[in-house]
Amino acid sequence: MEKGQGCRRFLSAMAICFIALPILVILIPGIHQKASTFDVIGRLYKPHPVGERVQNLHGLSSDLGFDEKSCLSRLQSRRYRKSGTQRKPSAYLLSKLRIYEALHRHCGPYTESYNRTVQLIGSGDLSTFSSTNCKYLVWHPVHGIGNRIVSLASTFLYALLTDRVLLVDLGEDMTGLFCEPFRGSSWVMPREFPLKSLFRRNAFRFAHSVGSALKNGTLKVTEDSPEAPPFLFLNLYKGIYADADYCFYCDESQSFLSRVPWLIMLSDQYFMPSFFLIPSFKQEASKLFPEKEAVFFHLVHYLVHPSNRVWELITRFYDANLASANERIGLQVRLFKAQFRTSTVFTDQILACLLNQNLLPKIDNRSQELSSSAPRNQTTKAVLITSLYPQFYQNLSTMYSNKPTASGEVIRFYQPSHEEKQKFGDSEHNMKALVEIYLLSLCDKLVISSKSTFGYVAQGLGDTRAWILRRPGHGTNDPCVRDLSTDPCFHYPPYRTCNAAGNNNSSYVDVAEHVSYLKHCEDQNRGVKLVDVHEEL
Ligand SMILES: *[C@@H]1O[C@H](CO)[C@@H](O)[C@H](O)[C@H]1NC(C)=O
Ligand SMILES: *[C@@H]1O[C@H](CO)[C@@H](O)[C@H](O)[C@H]1NC(C)=O
Ligand SMILES: *[C@@H]1O[C@H](CO)[C@@H](O)[C@H](O)[C@H]1NC(C)=O
Ligand SMILES: *[C@@H]1O[C@H](CO)[C@@H](O)[C@H](O)[C@H]1NC(C)=O
Ligand SMILES: *[C@@H]1O[C@H](CO)[C@@H](O)[C@H](O)[C@H]1NC(C)=O
Ligand SMILES: *[C@@H]1O[C@H](CO)[C@@H](O)[C@H](O)[C@H]1NC(C)=O
Ligand SMILES: *[C@@H]1O[C@H](CO)[C@@H](O)[C@H](O)[C@H]1NC(C)=O
Repeated sequence: MEKGQGCRRFLSAMAICFIALPILVILIPGIHQKASTFDVIGRLYKPHPVGERVQNLHGLSSDLGFDEKSCLSRLQSRRYRKSGTQRKPSAYLLSKLRIYEALHRHCGPYTESYNRTVQLIGSGDLSTFSSTNCKYLVWHPVHGIGNRIVSLASTFLYALLTDRVLLVDLGEDMTGLFCEPFRGSSWVMPREFPLKSLFRRNAFRFAHSVGSALKNGTLKVTEDSPEAPPFLFLNLYKGIYADADYCFYCDESQSFLSRVPWLIMLSDQYFMPSFFLIPSFKQEASKLFPEKEAVFFHLVHYLVHPSNRVWELITRFYDANLASANERIGLQVRLFKAQFRTSTVFTDQILACLLNQNLLPKIDNRSQELSSSAPRNQTTKAVLITSLYPQFYQNLSTMYSNKPTASGEVIRFYQPSHEEKQKFGDSEHNMKALVEIYLLSLCDKLVISSKSTFGYVAQGLGDTRAWILRRPGHGTNDPCVRDLSTDPCFHYPPYRTCNAAGNNNSSYVDVAEHVSYLKHCEDQNRGVKLVDVHEEL
């Protein structure tokens, strides 16, 4: 029960609640420093002439400076997307991204600034380090590809908001999945990065975490404390709230984190909405994203471009199976408990969802044979099923191939792969997973599984508000529910006030209560998600 004590003591000293008193932020040093870094980079940044090619995805991803052939998906993906998406990034986001790209070029791997800042890790001497030097945010993958993409996008927004350079540790099992997102530079953390071998060492990671530093008293909150360490870990994954790393979500922590040159992020979560809660980021985040529901959409489209190898698998499958259908329905079946794998319970529930929501037509029981009545209706629907198992595909496709549908529509089912088990550290597996996520995102309608980040990414990428299958075993009366927005769910939002100080009672705080654009997720009670608020009734 010692855990978290230091945090509380520290927070009690500050006694500022993270959801209140944004005005006090101005008093906290470090915020001014942020502005100055921004100015410096602003001067470095020379706008490129706006050519026709820059207009990819409404200018989100500037094409200039990229070799077209090195990343075909960047240009071609637009052709595969349904035309409905009206979401446009704000001009402010675009300019911030261009400034970020300039910062990344200035500070990226093997630049003079990078070499100098890496040396701080060994020397620990930060006396010459100032707020205008390059600062970094290193992302390390945790868990499956869905978790990785939601955490990566969240980490990138943190980098944008704190003027840090994002470097990613792709390791063995993600190499070759994505294109480089930042023109003129690389986001790949160099192999010889000094701390690399220590990322997975829990004891080390926790000893050098924000929470430990606070408990140790190594990190001083006082403004002119020169004692920032050269690096700290941010351990933001499930269960962190037992630990002092929870302090990440407190405004006060952010001002001293801004003095640490290297932050290393380990998270399997979507924590993007937290930046709309932390007072020192809230205003900037809202300015970047006036449309709240589109936060993940814009950032994931900016960051995640499948590599040519992955893109070829995506387009080949799409062109062969999905392109000619009148409508494409994506169905993601994720089982967190294997017991439902062979039982008919979940199949019944899935079918009930598809029929109740008119995603699939009923089967015509009267006709005995398929050939007895030629299709009266030439409409075809393609159902793309992604699952680790083949059962659901086998069941549905057999059912629909034996009898005609009541509407006469022709339904075809496809399942690109069934891996049986989720594998970690396997690049082929990750590649298949990415192909499937992407294919799902190209569907017109989407049914996803509750609490699965895999489905969240498909929904967010595709900007398609999905139906979420309720937990297996929930029954067929209410088998699925339409999601509130296309943005992923933040499963574990901060639920304690930062000044829960001195009182170990940790009273539950509902962050959604006072924020109009945060709503509780349909599939996770305490989770919250960003939604668009339309004031008019
Ligand atoms: C929490 O409060 C109870 C009652 O005051 C006390 O017995 C307990 O030791 C406290 N726990 C912690 C972790 O401070
Ligand atoms: C940075 O260091 C690498 C080797 O560690 C070296 O190859 C590179 O030239 C250095 N960059 C600059 C700008 O000196
Ligand atoms: C906290 O203290 C322990 C033990 O003295 C030390 O090993 C560790 O490096 C310190 N952590 C930080 C972040 O300063
Ligand atoms: C599919 O599943 C349903 C319900 O679980 C079951 O009644 C049916 O027999 C299965 N059909 C096939 C072809 O497996
Ligand atoms: C056909 O039979 C299935 C199962 O027996 C039933 O769920 C479905 O509603 C029937 N379809 C029609 C069109 O009556
Ligand atoms: C075919 O079925 C679809 C969906 O039920 C319907 O919208 C469409 O009008 C039908 N077309 C014809 C020619 O009957
Ligand atoms: C903890 O909080 C609850 C509700 O706010 C209150 O009823 C209870 O007395 C508190 N317990 C302690 C030990 O402070």
